[in-house]
Amino acid sequence: VLDIRKLYGQADVFTYDPGFTSTASCDSTITFIDGDKGELWYRGYPIEQLAEKSNYLEVCYLLLYGELPTAEQMSDFENRVTRHTMVHEQMHNFFRGFRRDSHPMATMVGVVGAMSAFYHDSTDIGDEWQREVAAIRLIAKLPTIAAMAYKYSIGQPFVYPNNELDYASNFLNMCFSVPAEKYQIDPALSKAMDRIFTLHADHEQNASTSTVRLAGSSGANPFACIAAGIACLWGPAHGGANQACLEMLREIGNVERIPEFIERAKDKDDPFRLMGFGHRVYKNFDPRAKVMKESADEVLDLLGIHNNPTLQVAKELEKIALEDEYFVSKKLYPNVDFYSGIILEAMGFPTSMFTPIFALSRTVGWIAQWKEMISDPQNKIGRPRQLYVGSDKREYVDLNNR
Ligand code: ACO
Repeated sequence: VLDIRKLYGQADVFTYDPGFTSTASCDSTITFIDGDKGELWYRGYPIEQLAEKSNYLEVCYLLLYGELPTAEQMSDFENRVTRHTMVHEQMHNFFRGFRRDSHPMATMVGVVGAMSAFYHDSTDIGDEWQREVAAIRLIAKLPTIAAMAYKYSIGQPFVYPNNELDYASNFLNMCFSVPAEKYQIDPALSKAMDRIFTLHADHEQNASTSTVRLAGSSGANPFACIAAGIACLWGPAHGGANQACLEMLREIGNVERIPEFIERAKDKDDPFRLMGFGHRVYKNFDPRAKVMKESADEVLDLLGIHNNPTLQVAKELEKIALEDEYFVSKKLYPNVDFYSGIILEAMGFPTSMFTPIFALSRTVGWIAQWKEMISDPQNKIGRPRQLYVGSDKREYVDLNNR
């Protein structure tokens, strides 16, 4: 690692690194990735072990406070999160201001940003207690907000949180129950949902996390910073890939058309990319994708889904791409979004909910990173440099002389 400040002094020399492919913006103790080996650890614990043995709320505790909780700490944390799952009734009115057919991500960017107005008693970042309350409020309320955004988009009444349910079951209940019918939550589906949350909880300095850090570096409040992260996550090259991937599978439509799309992905004159393939850091199988693939198989078996054409295309595409010289040589493996979309589709979520689910899962990672940054004495406002390639200095010309 080359520390450019120590080598050359502060201001006069800087690196030029579009897309930050080789620039570390911070040091961090939260998440470790080895892209060549395909390893991911949260606070030192391999993701495979956490996905198998832990659960999302315990992982939230681990990411926020650095250690696995004792039984007492876990119960206290669960109580604190549970106490904050409801949103202020006034927020229901705020929701109703959106177009009824808004994309749930659009609603979430607005509503989470507006939390700074609804919960301004936890926006003072200099106050440790307020920081803590803001973190708990975000973790507790994001599932409620995501489910409300969904219900609103399909014209159904909001479902209040049920604090007797665990985190994942509560989210499923808020999304799928309707007043007239009793919704039965399948524990295996809750487990699969919880695993999706766990696998998405943090991923070091990706685009949305860096956005949260950059927003936070100016001293902005945590709700504003998380709203910025949600906005960044929405793009199809990042969190929006899960929606884009499933839409692509539907567009391919049947296995006979796969070679045509593979050829398009290889064609440099065609902007088309195989969504759900490739990763900036993993040049080996994404460890989250491995777990997600197993989970997808379990969910499909559980729901008895074997003949769904979209899923058949997904399975065949995966097989063909993993053997194709172009994808092999560029180390383009299916990423986490490829399989998460398959599970969410099977569970009955529309594609527009895929990225909101990613956003609610990643909220804890964003907060943990934000907390780490603002408690770092070395923290200063993020301010990248640029290489100016515009016009030389010139004189202004009056409108009538141009
Ligand atoms: N399909 C076809 N070719 C691809 C793909 C793809 N999905 N991904 C990368 N490539 C090719 C590029 O064209 C490039 O080829 P070249 O060397 O001949 O120019 C090479 O592989 C390297 O690609 P880059 O774009 O330079 O890699 P980068 O690290 O910038 O991009 C990214 C990573 C954005 C994830 C990219 O692989 C992509 O667009 N994938 C599809 C979208 C996607 O699935 N995103 C989800 C990422 S995971 C997440 O956010 C949770």
